[in-house]
Amino acid sequence: MALPEEFLQRLKDANPIEQVVSSYVRMRRSGKNLMGLCPFHGEKTPSFVLYPENDSFYCFGCHVGGDTITFVRRIENLDYMEAVKMLAQRAGLDMPEDTRRNDGTARIKMRILEANREAARWFHRCLIGPEGTDALAYLRGRKLSDGIITRFGLGYAPDSWQGLSNHLRKLGFTDEELVTANLASRGGRGIYDRFRGRVIFPIIDVRGNVTGFSGRAVGDNGPKYLNTAETLVFEKGRGLFALNFAKNAGGQRLLLAEGPMDVIALHQAGFNFAVATQGTALTQQQAQLMTHYAKEVLLCYDADAAGQKASERAIPILRNAGLKVRVITIPEGKDPDEFIRTRGADRFRQLLDGSGNDVEYRLNKIRAKYDPDSADGRVNILREAIELLADLTGELEADVYAGKLAGEFRVEKATLLSQIDQRRRRRQKEDNAKEYRQIVRDTGGSVRDSINPQRSAHIKAARAEEALIAYLMRNPDRAAEVFAALPAEEFTTDFNRNLYIRLQEHLQSHPAGGTVALTVFSEDHSPDEMSRIAEILAKNNANANNRAAERDYIRVIREEHRKMTPQELAQADDETILAQMEALRRKKQ
Ligand code: UTP
Ligand code: MN
Repeated sequence: MALPEEFLQRLKDANPIEQVVSSYVRMRRSGKNLMGLCPFHGEKTPSFVLYPENDSFYCFGCHVGGDTITFVRRIENLDYMEAVKMLAQRAGLDMPEDTRRNDGTARIKMRILEANREAARWFHRCLIGPEGTDALAYLRGRKLSDGIITRFGLGYAPDSWQGLSNHLRKLGFTDEELVTANLASRGGRGIYDRFRGRVIFPIIDVRGNVTGFSGRAVGDNGPKYLNTAETLVFEKGRGLFALNFAKNAGGQRLLLAEGPMDVIALHQAGFNFAVATQGTALTQQQAQLMTHYAKEVLLCYDADAAGQKASERAIPILRNAGLKVRVITIPEGKDPDEFIRTRGADRFRQLLDGSGNDVEYRLNKIRAKYDPDSADGRVNILREAIELLADLTGELEADVYAGKLAGEFRVEKATLLSQIDQRRRRRQKEDNAKEYRQIVRDTGGSVRDSINPQRSAHIKAARAEEALIAYLMRNPDRAAEVFAALPAEEFTTDFNRNLYIRLQEHLQSHPAGGTVALTVFSEDHSPDEMSRIAEILAKNNANANNRAAERDYIRVIREEHRKMTPQELAQADDETILAQMEALRRKKQ
């Protein structure tokens, strides 16, 4: 279902890549381009570049790139058509007539969301109905008010094998759909409900969709918590429980707890900016998601060993996403829910107000490890503290803590600072070396290049092909002559040849003006392929832009092609040949 190029052009014009990306990532101008911290991998120094000139982005750290549509696909986890729709909506454009009806995946996703919504309703009715007596007593026993139970839409899945399935079948859902939504599983005798005998916490995303469920056992059968497995609309490690309520509640602050019970107890006590991960450790994506709504995250994991370990893991992830972190330490081995229940909301507020930032928290951990009364202990404390402070991105922060430590342990602040500086330099070198090794690994040809598998065997040809493609995108006015001089058959690598053919098609119907944007490729190429195309543009961005360079690319492409053996030529895959014939046919028409 191809979209008209005119529409894509309008879509692109109405959604400049700088604007779209800037609503997710803080970008700084750097000459013609913009730079920022890559949202697709954790990093401390920016390697994520935007090229407004051809509407592309590319990360030199993780090699992800593409056009605006690809960016939205990746960051919002959407397929091509959904991303186009989202951008159209953002700019107030109508989708072309014949694309408004839903295509495959989008339709299935919609059905899953509908099934989830109906399921949530049914679970809630069961909770307040006769089957739910015990479950409701259980929740009330945990001091949840009826108001908060309604607000969070809590429910109960009765202890039966097909209660929900039968209900949803009556509403017109197929067994297939219920299994795809992970509401039911397939067994020997048909499908059976996934959640049985559990209190149900619906998981609702920021758009208000019910994406999945978490179920807590009321008795003691099975695991304590059972969550929706991955589905087309639910990916663990992506959303956050209660973010729909919390997103604008805390004035740029979010409280991060371990699970739904803690979050609900916190909301009931007035801390309505609490969220939780879903039975998994915090991911970079979740930290990234938080940056849309917060500048600071208050970590309040359980006081037990597991919770403390999880805090240690979460802190760098949050900091790397650019968030400030404070750690709330709950005394007496309790979790937030228990603490509020036994000590009250006011005491919790005191903990919150008294919470140290993460540096303070981690320094205290280090202090507690050694004996500050022995010289040996003091040296160890300072050594680890220097490591920690070297890790901080802010100069100012390091300076402040170095001053504090210098006073506390009666050493020179300047000594601490110079050690911190040394540590930092060494680490920077290590990081650079690591990145370099990664690049060598990625491009060295020892690993199979799945996007352009012929590239490593024909590196010279591939480089010239890529340079020519980047050149044509910058200089579409040269296209007619170049296409006449160099037919697509003379390309050596199939991937690049297909790009060349696509460009040819595009420029024949749109000969006029400007540079060619990456969007031309977006519909027919996967996000991974888009990354490669963006890489081609980014890496050839500084090439010479003149006729001599053009002639040179063409000459190398020809020479290299002639070097191909007959076997290699015979192996050119059928699809490519078909694509070429198709292109030729279109040209003749
Ligand atoms: P906890 O064991 O600390 O549970 O697990 P909790 O949040 O205090 O829950 P209550 O108070 O006993 O009801 C922390 C989180 O880990 C996940 C859940 O998200 C839980 O909230 N978890 C735990 C699971 O996913 N599966 C389990 O079997 C246990
Ligand atoms: Mn608990």
